[in-house]
Amino acid sequence: MLTDELKRYAKSGVYPFHMPGHKRQPIGELPYQLDLTEIPGFDYLHDPQGCIRDIEHRAERLYQAERAFLLINGATGGILAAVRAMTRPRDKVIVARNCHRSVFHAIELCDLEPVYYLPDPIDGTDIYGGVNPFLLDMLLREHPDAKLVILTSPTYEGVVSEIKWIAPICHRSGVRLLVDEAHGAHFPFSEAFPKPAVQCGADVAVVSLHKTLPAPTQTALLLTSDPKTAPELQRQLAVFESASPSYLLMSGAEDCLRYVENHSFKEYLTLLHDFYRRAKSLQRLHLLFDPESGGTPPFDPGKLVITTYGTDLTGKALAGLLRERWRIETEMASAHYVIAMTSVCDTKEGFHRLWRALKEIDAAVRCAEPDAAQAILTALPEKRFDPGEMRRFETETVPLAQAAGAVSADYVYAYPPGIPYLVPGEVVSAEMIDRINALREAGVEVLSTRKTLPEALTVIDW
Ligand SMILES: Cc1ncc(COP(=O)(O)O)c(C=O)c1O
Repeated sequence: MLTDELKRYAKSGVYPFHMPGHKRQPIGELPYQLDLTEIPGFDYLHDPQGCIRDIEHRAERLYQAERAFLLINGATGGILAAVRAMTRPRDKVIVARNCHRSVFHAIELCDLEPVYYLPDPIDGTDIYGGVNPFLLDMLLREHPDAKLVILTSPTYEGVVSEIKWIAPICHRSGVRLLVDEAHGAHFPFSEAFPKPAVQCGADVAVVSLHKTLPAPTQTALLLTSDPKTAPELQRQLAVFESASPSYLLMSGAEDCLRYVENHSFKEYLTLLHDFYRRAKSLQRLHLLFDPESGGTPPFDPGKLVITTYGTDLTGKALAGLLRERWRIETEMASAHYVIAMTSVCDTKEGFHRLWRALKEIDAAVRCAEPDAAQAILTALPEKRFDPGEMRRFETETVPLAQAAGAVSADYVYAYPPGIPYLVPGEVVSAEMIDRINALREAGVEVLSTRKTLPEALTVIDW
């Protein structure tokens, strides 16, 4: 086990005339003694054959993947590498528009031609539903030259797409499927969760260990069901990941995999089940999903999406109350909902505190007319250029009010979840400017990558 090896080595008395520069001398609280570099016996992330490969073997077994790669640069690094490994420049790719911005960055870097699929919102919400296999099939027929489909499942809100239907549709069209499963690393560990994407036929999936499992931030896995893709994935990982991977992160990832392999999820699932059962008695606040509803759309029960639709509270205000009055920090707050992320490490006390808080807040909120701020795209912006073409142009930064009709040179998004409203190369409409202003009034932080919003936006100068 890597942690044991690191500890043994730290005690061995070998003097380090090598990186890292702290020479295993603690200069703070962190375990510098265990922070090594690639010295003999400690394997090499970019060509793993020893203890790091053992971690990947364990991941392959747990996720039932043909090949797993350990990532120390989050799902982000895995997504960049996977998109580059699975495409050639100017390839056409079908992309669910509700993907994380790392997918858009990959499209930009790899100079691809994106064709967007915009999922419908779940009825009465501003939360995207899953990818509809039938509509995706139609899109693939319209674009027989497409090479890759990229989608996010589960989404930040826990909405899952039916990969077992989608994968055969892609493959029938000769197209490969990449699933951003960053929020689904826990799926293999109980039947109560949806089935992992690679087990449903996805060619490649990326999972963030750190998001929903007990693993250090930045640890993730790149998984493939196709051994032929593996060498190119390995090559591209060397492009996007550090040449000095952290042994602390890698041993943390190993600890995580060992833990979930040997730990029962039963107690966690009982806590979740109790929480959903109690939540049925809420009058005004609601949980978006109910595991007993038959799971339509399919979703991850580990995500507690608490909605404020039809009340005088915004999601932001609910998160504020939870923070200030109940000392509960949630993962994300939007105009109309809050996401409380749970994991196998949550305690009974934690669930109980959240339940008591919601019960009290629910009794105090009043009904109100739903407000109009639509936090997600309901129509695709007009695309003038592909993102990868945009570096050819000079840009200027103009007041937002004057940007109508111009071509954006920047991403505009709310973070979290980081799904872009505008991608470089898309036309800024007057409605988009109104939407940005309305969202900001509803307390949603809408940003541009160059941080010019809310005053201004960077557009093509022509
Ligand atoms: C859907 C989705 N994909 C990918 C990522 C990037 O993951 P990581 O933070 O592990 O790089 C995120 C991060 O929030 C995300 O929400």
